[in-house]
Amino acid sequence: MESREELDLLLKELVKDYAFLVKGFSNPLARQVSRLSAGAEDYRVLKSYIVDLARYANQAYHRDGTDRYMYRAPVLMLFHGDRRAMSYEENAHLVCHHAMLAAVSLGLGSTIIGMVPPIVDRSKLLRERYGIPKGNKVMTSLILGYPRYRYRKSIRRDLKAVRIID
Ligand SMILES: Cc1cc2nc3c(=O)[nH]c(=O)nc-3n(C[C@H](O)[C@H](O)[C@H](O)COP(=O)(O)O)c2cc1C
Repeated sequence: MESREELDLLLKELVKDYAFLVKGFSNPLARQVSRLSAGAEDYRVLKSYIVDLARYANQAYHRDGTDRYMYRAPVLMLFHGDRRAMSYEENAHLVCHHAMLAAVSLGLGSTIIGMVPPIVDRSKLLRERYGIPKGNKVMTSLILGYPRYRYRKSIRRDLKAVRIID
């Protein structure tokens, strides 16, 4: 997706749908319903992370139109797969990661955006606009753009979970 109007429309839908989630979380009954419908693991992530992030992003949007969902990137790619196909979830993430590597090779910046796919996946309006087939699940998304900053060094990462068994 590359058109500003289309990305602005998506931003409005994100703000609207996340407002609904944030509101739901302030109501104990609605919270219990989402606990049941989301399952224990997703509910924990929603409660400890997503709701706060959405609240903060929506506040920024209402203050001055700031986009804390897609950072006003000029391009967004969505990755989706046929629910009936084997490993469709892994495939979508692999393709997304390859797109990131391709972006780097072209001098572009990219970030995986996990806040967008669940909203698009559940929205009849957005699915129709983007031509997502009925049986497909939107798995992940990527924003792309020309980076404003160039880093000369990256952060040193320790490999936390590599265990060598000899
Ligand atoms: C699956 C996944 C989903 C992500 N979703 C978002 C997002 O919705 N919004 C965002 O600002 N960053 C998102 N990120 C980027 C991370 O916040 C983080 O910047 C990135 O993984 C780099 O990690 P680091 O900060 O540890 O270097 C996502 C990253 C991954 C791997």
